Amino acid sequence: MKIFTIANLKGGVGKTITTVNVAYLLAAEQGRRVLVVDNDQQGNASHFFGRYGYDKPGMAEVLARTAGPEAVIQHTDYEHIDIIAANLNLAKAEKAVLLDTMVPQQVRLRECLRQVKNVYDYVLIDNAPSLGMCVVNALTTSDWLIVPAKIDRWTFEGVDMLLQQAEQVQSYFNPQLRFAGTLITNYRRNESNRQGAEWLRAAGKYKPFHSMIRWTDKVDESTFAAAPIVVHSPRCNASKDYRRFTAELMRLAGDAPDGEQKGGEQA
Ligand SMILES: Nc1ncnc2c1ncn2[C@@H]1O[C@H](COP(=O)(O)OP(=O)(O)O)[C@@H](O)[C@H]1O
Ligand SMILES: [Mg+2]
Repeated sequence: MKIFTIANLKGGVGKTITTVNVAYLLAAEQGRRVLVVDNDQQGNASHFFGRYGYDKPGMAEVLARTAGPEAVIQHTDYEHIDIIAANLNLAKAEKAVLLDTMVPQQVRLRECLRQVKNVYDYVLIDNAPSLGMCVVNALTTSDWLIVPAKIDRWTFEGVDMLLQQAEQVQSYFNPQLRFAGTLITNYRRNESNRQGAEWLRAAGKYKPFHSMIRWTDKVDESTFAAAPIVVHSPRCNASKDYRRFTAELMRLAGDAPDGEQKGGEQA
């Protein structure tokens, strides 16, 4: 089971869009078993999969340690995609966990996911734009950190802070954690985007993925339709880009996308 955390201190950079679309591509096109963890109190990923609500336990109960995986994991309408949903209770749970010092606060999601490690091929954790205990739990349990970023004047400060936090988590709780790279989203063919992408490559430490996700108004439409972009608009640029990105991630994880030989990170 490979665990990817999708995080950025900024909102509106494509974290949720990336999570739900990669989940769909891994499951529907690659036949992998996927668990989506909605680790954002806003519950956008839960909404997308039609599992937002207050009648079932979810991430809040994972953080509070009041429910186990069998209670919090729900099937979605998509084959091979399950979800741990979130709602506003997660905000309360994130506060409560800070007062509950009997059990380490950082490892609660890990405790839960360990119990299903043979059930899924991939776990994708969608995060809130914060550095709170929810994100720390995500980093503590993950193999890889993916940082979606939109190119603008303020992109890089937030990425730096998150990378520092990831380094701390790595040294205290999770030596396995690696920075997979920055995923440029909302990419437009103009001078500032071109220069920003170039700068990101030159800076070295941001490790931009080869794939970039181009801007298209179809993405917004797809969220209203609650459909993956490759279903809503199969031929649009973002569909092609997400497919390419998903293959890139699988190779990074040492998993061969369908139709390819099993290869390493360089494939
Ligand atoms: N490639 C894209 N092209 C156009 N719009 C996009 C693209 N990616 C994301 N968006 C839009 O940007 C907004 C924020 O995306 P979202 O994934 O919810 O961000 P986050 O989870 O980081 O807050 C959404 O309205 C979404 O439709
Ligand atoms: Mg989001």
